[in-house]
Amino acid sequence: MKLSSLAISGVRNIISAKIAHLGDVNIFTGLNGAGKTSILESIHILGLAKSFRGSQLQPVIHYSSNTCTVFGELEPTDLEGQHVAVGVKRAKKGGHKIRIAGQDEKSLVRLAEMLPIQLINAATYLLLEGGPKQRRQFIDWGVFHVEQEFYGAWRRMQRALKQRNGALRSGQVHNTPLAAWDNEFIEAALTVDTARQRYFASFEPVFYDLLTQLLPDSGLVVSYERGWHSDLSLDAVLKEAKQRDFKRGFTHYGPHRADLKLTINGLAAGQVLSRGQQKLVVCALKLAQCQLMIRGAAKACILLIDDLPAEIDHIHQAKLCRLLDGLNLQLFMTCVEAADLANQPWSDEKNIAVFELRKGEITAL
Ligand SMILES: Nc1ncnc2c1ncn2[C@@H]1O[C@H](COP(=O)(O)OP(=O)(O)OP(=O)(O)O)[C@@H](O)[C@H]1O
Ligand SMILES: [Mg+2]
Repeated sequence: MKLSSLAISGVRNIISAKIAHLGDVNIFTGLNGAGKTSILESIHILGLAKSFRGSQLQPVIHYSSNTCTVFGELEPTDLEGQHVAVGVKRAKKGGHKIRIAGQDEKSLVRLAEMLPIQLINAATYLLLEGGPKQRRQFIDWGVFHVEQEFYGAWRRMQRALKQRNGALRSGQVHNTPLAAWDNEFIEAALTVDTARQRYFASFEPVFYDLLTQLLPDSGLVVSYERGWHSDLSLDAVLKEAKQRDFKRGFTHYGPHRADLKLTINGLAAGQVLSRGQQKLVVCALKLAQCQLMIRGAAKACILLIDDLPAEIDHIHQAKLCRLLDGLNLQLFMTCVEAADLANQPWSDEKNIAVFELRKGEITAL
């Protein structure tokens, strides 16, 4: 599926805007504050029913409105599929309403499955500089889209973990409740970990291939750490850590402590790389995920890139665009100078659309 049209109302400075014909490569240009990022934010709301700024809706919805809505038409990428209309409405006071093909839809999961969205913006630097949570979420997005049983097991694991931690805090030291949660936790945890390991095994070579094309001599090493000692069973680790778990009131080991480690000469990549290099590594990570998804789940993927040219020199902009061009992605990118992106040698079969934003109003160029 790819987005063929969009209608946005009440997202930041976009009071009402329609784009009838979207392309494969969509470039949004305009001055600072014109509304470029707000377009990406709207597409993010359409695919995930939430902003990329966090859970607060107040800053995302136009001052004069109580709600924002985004509608999109999805066009099949093969000839077999059907067009589907998707709409998401959010209110300042909370709640969301999702419509898919004319029906109300409760599940955010269904929305995420239909419209897999990846985002690269200033905050995605957190993948390198932030804590393990962002990196776990990153890897789990990929696993979710290619491993059927993952989401159910992940939810079971989270539930068992919460209950196990509750039992730990309530001081039920040697009795059955903890053992019961242990069994449930271990079973789900192993499914989650196996799915992540399998995903990582296919992710690693794709990532290195993309990274080498962008930064040939970075010396960056990526590894997956599952959240407990690699030579021991989770069962044994939980038994060994039991007293410590009770003392601190939480579970020290398990897939909830997993991490994707990115290092250079043993140091965290976020501490070593320059800003531009970090951005390129994040692009390689995100593109590797998109590539695996297109391949493994046979789904189209939408990639939102905010201000791609910022902090990237012309040589690396060209390399990045060449990689983007080679993937079967629908791209939504913003930039201040349209030429930076529009003048890249996109292949002939790609449909390039350039839009200009002025004070929240869109014109197709
Ligand atoms: N809740 C709101 N209601 C109305 N306008 C808002 C609201 N929140 C932000 N704005 C305005 O909307 C605009 C949003 O700009 P946006 O971030 O999309 O700009 P941009 O084109 O990406 O700019 P830049 O090039 O600086 O990144 C800003 O001018 C901001 O002042
Ligand atoms: Mg912006």
